[in-house]
Amino acid sequence: MRLAHLSDLHMLPKGALKPSLLFNRRIFGATNLYIRDWTKKAVHVVKSAMTAISHANVDHIIITGDLTNLAIEAEFEFASSVIESFGLDHTKLSIIPGNHDYYVPAAAKNRRFEHYFGKYTWGPDFDPFAQYPAVKDIDNIRLILACTPTIPPPMFSYGELGTPQMDRIFQLADNAHGRHVVLAIHHHLHNQNFLRDKTGLLKDRQQLKARLAQSSIRLVIHGHDHHEHEMVLQSKLPSGTHVLSCGSTTYQSASKRRFGRFNIYEFKENGALEVERWQSNQSGEFYLLKSP
Ligand SMILES: [Fe+2]
Ligand SMILES: [Fe+2]
Repeated sequence: MRLAHLSDLHMLPKGALKPSLLFNRRIFGATNLYIRDWTKKAVHVVKSAMTAISHANVDHIIITGDLTNLAIEAEFEFASSVIESFGLDHTKLSIIPGNHDYYVPAAAKNRRFEHYFGKYTWGPDFDPFAQYPAVKDIDNIRLILACTPTIPPPMFSYGELGTPQMDRIFQLADNAHGRHVVLAIHHHLHNQNFLRDKTGLLKDRQQLKARLAQSSIRLVIHGHDHHEHEMVLQSKLPSGTHVLSCGSTTYQSASKRRFGRFNIYEFKENGALEVERWQSNQSGEFYLLKSP
């Protein structure tokens, strides 16, 4: 069983930023977009990543949020048409929301993200107002799909799982019938610099970490931090709980020599977790960076 992990695609259609839409907190995001020039090339890089994955013998793909930038309807239409073009259904692809997909209260309240992508989270008969987490049992993996974005004030991007969702996550993890449990969330669990920790953290990450320490969740995958990150938390499992971010799949900065990433995870027969790290070059073509 091989699981591909992409994140933070931040796809931007041409002409989406109409001035009339850039009110309230979107104006901050729009300003940010002019700095983040790489979002304009994101679709090319997403397609290139999916081509590489199609040749990498992968059983399931998960995207851990931030498919859009400002949660504008045109962005969702565009992002969903790109995702549709890969011809995958919920048995092959899972998608969870990031804070940019809930960027304004109306988008979150109307469940705009879920209307477009819920079929990949819950299957074809989905209810866009269904509660998270969703769960999928795929071969030897139980995949738990959670939602962390909230509606913070402008300039903040923090998130929260909340107690009911967290309770359900650990109930599902405790009844996994021997499968490897993988939890997918958007927000990271590690510390960042002071400003990022103040503005963009998962507010109940300490509670989540404390409960992970008592659980048999094998792997937590996340996005939000656009950098690759890995840590191991002590847990009931001898190997501990691995927490991994692939970084943004579409980020491109030649001056910083930092390019888009995705990961492939595989649980071996002996239970060991192997991680393949893939990175794009300046043209957006992906290659295996570091084999296990
Ligand atoms: Fe992001
Ligand atoms: Fe994010």
